[in-house]
Amino acid sequence: MKLVCCNFKMNLLKDDIENYIKVIHNYVDKNNLIIFPSIPYINDFKQNGFIVGSQNISFNEFGSITGDTSILQLKEMGITYTIIGHSERRKYFNDDIYIKEKINLALNNNVKVILCIGESIKTNEQETYAILKKEIDDAFLNNTNLIKNDNLIIAYEPIWSIGSGLIPDNTCLTNTINYIKDYVFNTYKVKIKVLYGGSVNISNIDSLQEINEIDGYLIGSFSLKPENILDLSTRIM
Ligand code: 13P
Repeated sequence: MKLVCCNFKMNLLKDDIENYIKVIHNYVDKNNLIIFPSIPYINDFKQNGFIVGSQNISFNEFGSITGDTSILQLKEMGITYTIIGHSERRKYFNDDIYIKEKINLALNNNVKVILCIGESIKTNEQETYAILKKEIDDAFLNNTNLIKNDNLIIAYEPIWSIGSGLIPDNTCLTNTINYIKDYVFNTYKVKIKVLYGGSVNISNIDSLQEINEIDGYLIGSFSLKPENILDLSTRIM
């Protein structure tokens, strides 16, 4: 079964979380489901046997950085994964400049990385590839010796697709995912998994499932309802 990653972003409250856990308790394949809640609720999922991740980490282990959370603190909460470089963090928090440090901290602390990359507007393939190549190089250069086959996963999330209901057509998506895999393999000698993220929902999942190159999904708003995730799981078995 493909990897299903639920990025709740800054949503849901305690009652919602308790209900969520009740509903997905019997999710068929907990080994391939990763929940990225807001920090206050990481523990709730962890205690109920789910694999959890953080939506971000600080660029430092400790220090006078008000409002940030250290990888070491998140590790104590039991995270296995962290998302790094989500487009919303790049947009609101200038994360472009911290990608290298954050990947370094996560991998040095044995926390797996889901690195988000993606073009902001729909454009031709060559322009898209140039943007993706730059985002990959920013992340991989200086961390090349830390990145192994399974400790970093790329999530291809075209920014124009996030929250818009629009997704790339299958040919385009297949070509882009192949580009990412080939570029990383040829340049950095690492075989990576690539997730797709952006408006994944029950009405487009069957079509996305036709693309063998997709290793899983990073899902935002559709993942906020646990029934949706159960429904989706029956389509990706
Ligand atoms: P949506 O699924 O809401 O489009 O969000 C995708 C996303 O940003 C996941 O990280």
